[in-house]
Amino acid sequence: MNSSFISSADQVAVSFTTKWQAPSNIALVKYWGKTEPQLPKNPSLSFTLSSSVTTTEVVFSPNNQGIFEFEFYFEGTLKADFNPKLNSFFDRIKTYIPWLNSYTLRISSQNSFPHSSGIASSASAMAALSLCLMDMERKLIPETSTEDFCKKASFLARLGSGSAARSVEGPVTLWGKNSIQKSGSDLYATPFGADLNPIFSSFQDTILLVDKGTKAVSSTQGHQLMHNHPFAAQRFIQARHDLANLVPIMKLGDLDGFMRIVETEALSLHAMMMTSNPYFILMQPNTLEIIQKVWEYRKETQIPLCFTLDAGANIHLLYPKQNSEAVGTFIKADLAAYCEQGQYLFDEVGTGAKKV
Ligand code: DP6
Repeated sequence: MNSSFISSADQVAVSFTTKWQAPSNIALVKYWGKTEPQLPKNPSLSFTLSSSVTTTEVVFSPNNQGIFEFEFYFEGTLKADFNPKLNSFFDRIKTYIPWLNSYTLRISSQNSFPHSSGIASSASAMAALSLCLMDMERKLIPETSTEDFCKKASFLARLGSGSAARSVEGPVTLWGKNSIQKSGSDLYATPFGADLNPIFSSFQDTILLVDKGTKAVSSTQGHQLMHNHPFAAQRFIQARHDLANLVPIMKLGDLDGFMRIVETEALSLHAMMMTSNPYFILMQPNTLEIIQKVWEYRKETQIPLCFTLDAGANIHLLYPKQNSEAVGTFIKADLAAYCEQGQYLFDEVGTGAKKV
């Protein structure tokens, strides 16, 4: 229990409607392995995205019986299949926002990215919902500072999905205690800070949709498999080192160092999947074809284009904005053929969630 995050529950219930848009994020140093309650086994760092967002509206109505209830609508339709995940989220966060018991919620959510694109929406969804909850809390407790608002939104989002903690602010966020940043916490993510090299605040992320289907093994199952994993301890050390090395690189703007660490992290994540018990592979043959093409292209052109992967077959291509035209031509000519129905999405680093 983190008592500093518990708000008082003695406010008079009021009706309120709010709407927030929260972005997805792509980890450069990966979170893979956790303990209860959603505490990461190693620190992680991510780019906050810009166009891949979830928009969520919450209507809060006072509920005289003191029994919390909600309805969840996804893209206009009442969806009960999300209720188990939402129920466990609300069970986890109720201690921290006790006023919730005085309300009935109507939650309506939609994603900017295509319905089945293989893009995980739990980070943007949990962040958007947590921001709506915090907006209600700020109505009840107006003296809440912006810093505390963001911190607690990230804290609540983490309890819904670990990586969601990193979807509140931008352009780069860090989550987890680490040796570099004194303020780093396992409880919530914080922004990288003003000394981020400007090249990274406009970095491009083109998501190549190699497989738009549902993943065979969910992230939550994957995290579980890090318990008793033969290489887990070494992996957590590696992630700490990668983070400690990446932070100065991101201040300096050293793109060679950046690409080396980002690709190491992507492949190490998938190496953990391939060596767990039971083992599994989320990459597809086309994932590997694209990786080879990216390496060849980088060697031939010297353009600083690298890739990362989330827990799936899709590839995130990362590159500076100034190389957009050349990389766009390359994607169209040489990589689109490896994507399902030739589909890919252009995105870029963004500044974080906003009220709409
Ligand atoms: C590979 O945050 O989706 O994307 O905490 O169980 O909801 P839960 O898992 P989740 O895991 C994300 C895993 C990852 C790496 C990362 O985003 O750091």
